[in-house]
Amino acid sequence: MSDEHNTQEPVMGTTRRGFLRQTAVAGASLVAGATAAQANSPDPLIVEQQDWAREFGDGVDAVPYGLPIRFESDVVRRNVEWLTADTTSSINFTPIHALDGTITPQGCAFERHHSGAIELSKADYRLMINGLVDTPLVFTYADLERFPRETRTYFLECAANTGMEWAGAQLNGAQFTHGMIHNMEYTGVMLSTLLKEAGVKPEGKWVLVEGADASSNGRSIPLEKIMDDCMIAFKANGEALRKEHGYPARLIVPGWEGNMWVKWVRRIEVGDQPWETREETSKYTDTLANGVSRKWTWVMDAKSVVTSPSPQAPITHGQGPLVITGLAWSGNGAITRVDVTTDGGKTWKEARLAAPGQKMALTRFYLDINWDGQEMLLQSRCHDETGYVQPTKDQLREVRGLNSIYHNNCIQTWWVKADGSAENVEVS
Ligand code: MTE
Ligand code: CO
Repeated sequence: MSDEHNTQEPVMGTTRRGFLRQTAVAGASLVAGATAAQANSPDPLIVEQQDWAREFGDGVDAVPYGLPIRFESDVVRRNVEWLTADTTSSINFTPIHALDGTITPQGCAFERHHSGAIELSKADYRLMINGLVDTPLVFTYADLERFPRETRTYFLECAANTGMEWAGAQLNGAQFTHGMIHNMEYTGVMLSTLLKEAGVKPEGKWVLVEGADASSNGRSIPLEKIMDDCMIAFKANGEALRKEHGYPARLIVPGWEGNMWVKWVRRIEVGDQPWETREETSKYTDTLANGVSRKWTWVMDAKSVVTSPSPQAPITHGQGPLVITGLAWSGNGAITRVDVTTDGGKTWKEARLAAPGQKMALTRFYLDINWDGQEMLLQSRCHDETGYVQPTKDQLREVRGLNSIYHNNCIQTWWVKADGSAENVEVS
């Protein structure tokens, strides 16, 4: 598709086949951006027989478990080198700039592990519930499969997502600024079902959740949340969890920071007060401008980002019809509305939600515009069902200062230039 074609009238006449003429008419009238068929230079991809139509393709059993076609090999997780001290205690990022819809395939979902991903078989798996319960219990994997199941879709966002952007625009790409997030359909057992089996004593108010890996990633979670909607999940997007996401079972804590979603979950202790573990004291607290740290900031507030166009997804087709798209989510419930601006926040248009917002799950939005080829300051701003509106960077800094890493949910700006390339910038 070239700009030259866009501006030319379709040439009729010496078509080799009748359908070319129809294509030319339909192409010119339906979509301004589509290339009009050129009868004087027939497209070999249409008029000539291609290799793939001459021979048999691969058999169905060529690849027992399918992978994306090689042309999509750039849709992969990536690291930021200076953030990745070593790969066992590390982070990588979901290529959100290249995905659409809302479900994140496990194969490109970001990972974060504090002491590496462990290989734990179903046969070796045990889940213990102890502490302030009537009957301490140990479940095998097979036991978990016999409890009534639920299937629910939720986002997981690392508390540190966008954490490098507090002091200024830094990482050039939605994958790097916002890619510590994924959204999967989980199948598993409600934790309330298992805790009722053990019988929580009246003094029980908190639980400690621990993983089987060396870091154990222990976190205290209020019993109320645990009994409300937390799950022990063993399937994601219909299939077993990948090893890196906690095979064979992980904790799901809808809407709350990713660190609490303990992978390879092995023990749940009921207690009457929080444990004050490393992950909830020296880490995952937010230091304010005056040096005081906020603690127990569990919920991920409403946030959105334009995924395309963006620095890794530039506009390559010139002016005319342009699909602006992105993601919105809220740990406090459903997204109700997303606005998009192309002029750095002076004027806003309401975007179209691909489907009504679901509680604590990613929502896809689209805004279809006719791009005039001029530069844009592109932003999205979401609203959730509590009436909360995503703040600007300046608003967030006013309250939180510059010392934070975690819980940065501010409005993101992409400076889209006339050549279609885009850059991470700030506007005030
Ligand atoms: N659970 C265990 N056992 N060990 C870990 O290192 N990392 C936590 C959390 N659960 C971690 C863990 C962090 S910080 C995040 S953001 C999420 O898992 C990441 O989940 P993912 O790797 O499936 O994306
Ligand atoms: Co994390």
